[in-house]
Amino acid sequence: MRVLVTGHQGYLGTVMVPVLEAAGHTVTGLDIGYFADCLLGEFAGDPEGLAVDLREVTVEQLRGFDAVIHLAALSNDPLGALAPEITYDINHHASVRLARLAKEAGVRRFLYASTCSVYGAAGTELVTEDAPLRPITPYAQSKVRVEDDVAALADDDFTPVFLRNATAFGFSPRLRADIVLNNLVGYAVLTGEVKVLSDGTPWRPLVHARDIATAFATCLTAPAADLSCRAFNIGSEVNNLTVAEIAAAVVEAVPGSRLLITGESGADPRSYRVDFSSAREVLGFEAQWTVPAGAVELRTEYTARGLTAEAFFQRFTRLPHLQGLCDAGVLDARLRRISASASA
Ligand SMILES: NC(=O)c1ccc[n+]([C@@H]2O[C@H](COP(=O)([O-])OP(=O)(O)OC[C@H]3O[C@@H](n4cnc5c(N)ncnc54)[C@H](O)[C@@H]3O)[C@@H](O)[C@H]2O)c1
Repeated sequence: MRVLVTGHQGYLGTVMVPVLEAAGHTVTGLDIGYFADCLLGEFAGDPEGLAVDLREVTVEQLRGFDAVIHLAALSNDPLGALAPEITYDINHHASVRLARLAKEAGVRRFLYASTCSVYGAAGTELVTEDAPLRPITPYAQSKVRVEDDVAALADDDFTPVFLRNATAFGFSPRLRADIVLNNLVGYAVLTGEVKVLSDGTPWRPLVHARDIATAFATCLTAPAADLSCRAFNIGSEVNNLTVAEIAAAVVEAVPGSRLLITGESGADPRSYRVDFSSAREVLGFEAQWTVPAGAVELRTEYTARGLTAEAFFQRFTRLPHLQGLCDAGVLDARLRRISASASA
């Protein structure tokens, strides 16, 4: 299939493109390039790509594709809290516009990267896709709005699917240090401490970036009748862990490290345990990676590729990196490009 992947230069996109290519698809990227240069170690290179702001994409740019995989977003809670209106602008309005234009251009399948954080404060019961959505943050709220608005576009010729991914972990050449396992392992490698700022009790469902890539690849070719307008939780029950359990896996993976639960960030209302059976039953999707295996992978890659504190806290942490691009005059206050120095 001819597949357009938006956000192909992000953490997940960089891992997903080779998985799609290995499955025989022809991939084109579309990305504004916020993190194009944020690499750790060697990298085989991006596919052909459009250096385009999602907010400005045109119907002509979407013609000729069989499917769109839509990953581009301001992707995490701190970013959303800093500038909720920009989060709604890109994550909600531009995403719905993209889906409308894709449909107009004759694209038949639209796979959307949603998130399990749409469940918000769900307690300790396992939540299925039918559970009430209680998004707590602008980021999660924007994902719910896209699901609602894009579902309304579905018809026989246009199949939208919503993959509600658990929080990702694992190595990507375009690393992210601001997601829980990647963060804890990186901090431990750099300082010897596994430092948990919450009280460790919130539940987090986790999933490896490569497992997410496999789930999208599966949805590209699954029968449309099984998919249209459906949401699928993507992850595995074995990776529903408390933050304290995640931290314990990191202590095991980083020799000599010690655990420190400070509790300084106070109560964290984002807590949910997720049921992943529909992806298993409908798509035949099984996540392969466990959290302990992912912690060892991260420690190995960080060490081999020479992770530094500067890179960990700045280059691989979305908020300070974007602030740096604004301070340098590359992006304006609405995160639009005003110079070409971080090209896609
Ligand atoms: N990483 C996770 O834990 C996780 C979990 C659940 C869902 N998701 C979703 O998966 C998707 C990808 O996540 P990620 O971790 O790779 O995020 P990321 O921040 O690493 O990458 C996002 C990419 O989108 C691009 N982008 C952002 N705004 C754009 C715009 N206006 N125009 C064009 N490109 C733009 C960025 O340049 C970047 O390359 C996101 O939609 C995210 O919400 C991620």
